[in-house]
Amino acid sequence: MCGIVAYIGDLDPKEVLIEGLKRLEYRGYDSAGVAVHDGDSVAVYKMAGRIADLERRLSQVKLGGSLGIGHTRWATHGEPNDINAHPHPDYHNKVFVVHNGIIENYLAIKKELEKRGVRFRSETDTEVISNLIALNYTGDLTEAVIRAAELMEGTFGIAVIHKDEPKKLVLARRGSPLIVGIKDGCFFGTSDVAAILPHTRDVIYLEDNDIATLTPDGYKIISRGAKTVTRLLQRIEWSLEDAQLNGYPHYMLKEIYEQPEAIFNAMRGRIDIMEGVPKLGGIVPVWEELKNCKSIILLGCGTSFYAALAGKYIFESLTNLDVDAELASEFRYRRMSFLPNTFVVALSQSGETADTLAAMREAKRKGARLLGIVNVVASSIAREAGAGIYNHAGPEIGVASTKIYTSQLVILTLLALLLGRHQTLSLTDGVRILRELETLPSKAREVLKKADLIETIAQRYHRYNNWLFLGRKYNYPTALEGALKLKEVSYIHAEGYAAGEMKHGPIALINPEMPTVAIITRDEIYEKMINNIQEVKSRRGPVIAVCNEGDEKVKEMVDEVIEVPETLPFLSPILNVIPLQLLAYHCARFLGRDIDKPRNLAKSVTVE
Ligand code: F6R
Repeated sequence: MCGIVAYIGDLDPKEVLIEGLKRLEYRGYDSAGVAVHDGDSVAVYKMAGRIADLERRLSQVKLGGSLGIGHTRWATHGEPNDINAHPHPDYHNKVFVVHNGIIENYLAIKKELEKRGVRFRSETDTEVISNLIALNYTGDLTEAVIRAAELMEGTFGIAVIHKDEPKKLVLARRGSPLIVGIKDGCFFGTSDVAAILPHTRDVIYLEDNDIATLTPDGYKIISRGAKTVTRLLQRIEWSLEDAQLNGYPHYMLKEIYEQPEAIFNAMRGRIDIMEGVPKLGGIVPVWEELKNCKSIILLGCGTSFYAALAGKYIFESLTNLDVDAELASEFRYRRMSFLPNTFVVALSQSGETADTLAAMREAKRKGARLLGIVNVVASSIAREAGAGIYNHAGPEIGVASTKIYTSQLVILTLLALLLGRHQTLSLTDGVRILRELETLPSKAREVLKKADLIETIAQRYHRYNNWLFLGRKYNYPTALEGALKLKEVSYIHAEGYAAGEMKHGPIALINPEMPTVAIITRDEIYEKMINNIQEVKSRRGPVIAVCNEGDEKVKEMVDEVIEVPETLPFLSPILNVIPLQLLAYHCARFLGRDIDKPRNLAKSVTVE
């Protein structure tokens, strides 16, 4: 996904920009570029491909000055190539822009600008922005950005420089994250704090419609109506090391192994064992409404949606609430009608997923109350929700989400338990569930000890081209998530299915060439899953089972067994998903895939 880094100050802008762009690589990109102002003119270097290529090219040129902007692009308008890469100059090479987001009315603006003689070089919507700013320029770049922003519809985070103003960097945001970094006369602009962390931890998160002007002497932020505004200066607590590999070959593996800690951190300081209730500070502002709510809608995309779906089963187990899980990308376009006092709970690792944000806004417009379960502090979704619960799982860098999924399930359990305790759940129930939650970090560690076995299974099966993942009830979402993990990192075709649906179609696929991963836990639908495994075996389909420790019945039936410790049925997805993540990881490794940056994927999907 696109990333911005911009700089003004005494350091070498070329160095700051390249270093920043490298730290944005993990988000996924297809091209990159920089524009550096040397005091007289602006030099642009941009190209499709890797940052390393751009760095090599830049090492051959001398660029001075104290001002520059850089970008990693993930194509939305126009294919990934050198011309469509950012920064984009205007027709007269005066204004230079890097942009995240989508300008929805860019075609209308483009037509208008063409009538005025502007000629476009790229297929991007961003080139419209630089030309619009240039056309509104009368000697002050900030003024020109304000006027241009009024004419643009859609989402943008932009960093802008002008050839005639070598000491000014302008940032503007609407619906796309943008952060100002501050350090002793140096100022940074970025869409992702990781890009500037080697230089500063003091940051300001711009809000929608903010326009920040950075000069060597200071910064000024204005908002709608050109009022100067003060925004909170915040200190980033997580370290750069947190965002680095720590000896693991891939971030995905590192993050899989961080799960015991992530599970622990999701409940750290949030358990009152004596009362059998969780303590969730982030929901205090809405507690009076929340405790009386009748209906909850859990919302997310991709893995966060599967967490929402698992959450539905958790809420059904612990509360009397009417609970649904919805795909944010679908929900945002639905005709919504809410029971009075409905809460929409948005789940998101990045806190920037465009579909989730849009669905929340629609729900709010129609009267729903919002909550967020978000990992990235102060992200757009966290701020839109206004109240909620942070994962505190540290940065997740691998594109495939792993530790956030298990962390989300723990937080959903805490929330459901809190509500359940205000309904019918007894003190004994509360204490029992919290005590079981507290055992999960060590049980997750037990599962991770199966890594060698899982690697061997991956070695045997990674050449199979089609896989089926089956689960029921609590572990139906686990099957969906297991299939998603396998397909996104190994590019193997995999389908997740509710095992009860087998006879309604997918059983036709079963043959010796199609492995089935069956998730079977000792719960009330155990025997039904046994039947489903038998159906696969009698059609000579190989079966890899994730089952409870000591399950001899399953062991006798299947080809491969991965045993996990037993827990409460609605908590079992937290443990069962870990072998599936490892299986996907090792298959991808045997196939030589780019595990942390799978093709066509981005870490943070800030466009629709
Ligand atoms: C899958 C994956 C994606 C994300 C989805 C939502 O491994 O990473 O499916 O889960 O794009 O992202 P967030 O949670 O940031 O809203």
